[in-house]
Amino acid sequence: MVLLIGATGFLGPPVLKKLLGNNYDVDCLVRADSDRSRLLNAARSAGKKIKFNTGTLQSGDSIISIIKNVDSIIYMVDLKHTHLLETFLNTVKHTGLKRVVFISSTTVLIPLESMVKKQKIDSESLIKNSGLDYTILRPSMIYGSKNDINFSKMIRFIKRKGFFITFGSGNNLIQPIYIEDVANSIVSVLNNKKTYRKTYNIAGKDSLKYNEMLDIVRNKLKKKFKVIKIPIKLGILLISIYSKISKSPSLTPDQIERMEIDKAYSYQKAREDFNFSPTSFEDGIEKLIKESQVQD
Ligand SMILES: NC(=O)c1ccc[n+]([C@@H]2O[C@H](COP(=O)([O-])OP(=O)(O)OC[C@H]3O[C@@H](n4cnc5c(N)ncnc54)[C@H](OP(=O)(O)O)[C@@H]3O)[C@@H](O)[C@H]2O)c1
Repeated sequence: MVLLIGATGFLGPPVLKKLLGNNYDVDCLVRADSDRSRLLNAARSAGKKIKFNTGTLQSGDSIISIIKNVDSIIYMVDLKHTHLLETFLNTVKHTGLKRVVFISSTTVLIPLESMVKKQKIDSESLIKNSGLDYTILRPSMIYGSKNDINFSKMIRFIKRKGFFITFGSGNNLIQPIYIEDVANSIVSVLNNKKTYRKTYNIAGKDSLKYNEMLDIVRNKLKKKFKVIKIPIKLGILLISIYSKISKSPSLTPDQIERMEIDKAYSYQKAREDFNFSPTSFEDGIEKLIKESQVQD
């Protein structure tokens, strides 16, 4: 039995579908008020049933009773919540369970200091010292479902408005990963002993300049759109003002600062240990555009 923690988020449903498709029995730990509908849909589309256990990571008790019947755990709660991870690790220590796959992020590799980066690095180091048979997967920016806040949102914006706003020159490198490749990686490492006690970067097939990415989106959408480029410094100023006015800002000044940094990653270790072979951005974005046309 595999237990998913943090499955009601963006990544959870495709991971659940992939596990069920590979005949794993799956349980999910979900908070009482979490939306389970996407998980139910994922299970239905795999033709399987799943069990929910209501609980929260804040309470070790809710995990202990569930873990009794579990062989491995996939932990998808954001590692920036170091206190939640600590509760989890302290609880698991008192059970016999050893195998946990953790989802971190390439944020830990960005050459720019931030609170989130520090929290994730601290969490990774707790995991490495936990005595568990862990595997840490670090995906780059994930895209490829209508719930993604990156490319799906971008495509909807372009379709509606006919233009797009970017910050900086657009010459920086990016390497987004298609969501199915993340789900496949999780299933590939789950019982692969070669990956125990190791950490892997996983990313899209090739890195590309932000401007090249825009050209690919333009070609695949078959739609002309204008790109309004705002210099980084002006962007930081504008977003600082906006984030003070807005109650729930969708962009923060640090995100703008990060937009000029190259985000290209080697996944050679993942290729060697579990045959990681990611989708190209051209193919991934084409699938996303097709799916969004079906849903329009
Ligand atoms: N999205 C990306 O582009 C991206 C890129 C790289 C790495 N990652 C990493 O991939 C992982 C999954 O990302 P995601 O985008 O799917 O995250 P997400 O959408 O933010 O989902 C987070 C999940 O954690 C659960 N959670 C939060 N606090 C909890 C608690 N106290 N007890 C139990 N569950 C709790 C949430 O449950 P509720 O539904 O109850 O809130 C939700 O299921 C994260 O580690 C993230 O850092 C994501």
